[in-house]
Amino acid sequence: MGRFNIAVLPGDGIGPEVVGEAIAVINTVKKKFNHEFELKEGALGGCAIDAYGEPLPQATLELCKSCDAVLLGAVGGVKWDTLPGDKRPEAGLLGIRAGLGLYANLRPAVIYSALKDASPLRPDIVKDGIDIMVVRELTGGMYFGEKGRVDAGDMGQAAYDTEKYSTFEVERITRLAFEAAMKRNKKVTSVDKANVLESSRLWREVVLKVAKDYPEVELNHMYVDNAAMQLVRNPMQFDVIVTSNMFGDILSDEASMITGSIGMLPSASLGQGTLGLYEPIHGSAPDIAGQDKANPIATILSIAMMMKYSFGLEKESEVIEKAVENVLNAGYRTADIASSGSKVIGTKEMGRLIKEEIEKM
Ligand code: IPM
Ligand code: MG
Repeated sequence: MGRFNIAVLPGDGIGPEVVGEAIAVINTVKKKFNHEFELKEGALGGCAIDAYGEPLPQATLELCKSCDAVLLGAVGGVKWDTLPGDKRPEAGLLGIRAGLGLYANLRPAVIYSALKDASPLRPDIVKDGIDIMVVRELTGGMYFGEKGRVDAGDMGQAAYDTEKYSTFEVERITRLAFEAAMKRNKKVTSVDKANVLESSRLWREVVLKVAKDYPEVELNHMYVDNAAMQLVRNPMQFDVIVTSNMFGDILSDEASMITGSIGMLPSASLGQGTLGLYEPIHGSAPDIAGQDKANPIATILSIAMMMKYSFGLEKESEVIEKAVENVLNAGYRTADIASSGSKVIGTKEMGRLIKEEIEKM
């Protein structure tokens, strides 16, 4: 029996809906395996702006620091789109990643055999399935570099964002990627733009140095434009992809879609210790919020990652993943992954079926 405290930040848009189903899964696992999971809710994003005037209240950060893991829904919405950059809901998300020192973002893109039809790629490209782990650097690069606006004279105004990486930052994310590869198919693809960017040239140097400590792992380097193309041309060539914050943001959306839907992809953000933040990679999808349409699977699979990475509960993690697979195999689909002949259901029903599967196992 384990005792764990979980900070829950539902956020905005479909966030509360998908988090609601994830909480139900946590409670089902709790009962089945006799653990003590204590949930403590906090405000982050637009709802925090409305209630407290800031996207990341100090109390939320303190709450997360005092817990063993954080479950996050999604943040953002049109209502807050015109606020200045540092006051937007997204600033709260970046603030919590940095504030908790979560420099590594793991985004596994796996295609379930039941969902092969939902992939926009041809069956001969998807063939034996896709299983890619995107390791995205999460607290550096352009997201956190110096930015600003200056007067550009005759040319009007100018704005800039700086891509800056230290050897320390590149080394720690690279090591984590190689460690992940050692437990998988022992292949790392480092994605950069070293033909143009100095920050990428340093990135590549550091990756090459770290690779010497992992002689069993096959390493290749790929420019980001080529990587974007290779992901749809032959996704099976990838095992672990390690890349910067910006490139990882873009490529993980692409990787998610080739598996059928962005509504399927979970993520884990990790740092030095076991404290991690778990969230679906999709956003707050305001257009479908409150309509029982959102796919809760990405958030539920994020709970599976939480069990494994923050709590060391491998069995519980596998049970959740298996339950999702069983429900998909039985033909149930939310609208985003539906194809002809599938049983289309809503958020709540999907959550309920997964819960039932967990109970049965
Ligand atoms: C993601 C999201 C965020 C990011 C946004 C909401 C700030 O797109 O987690 O991928 O860019 O990191
Ligand atoms: Mg993104």
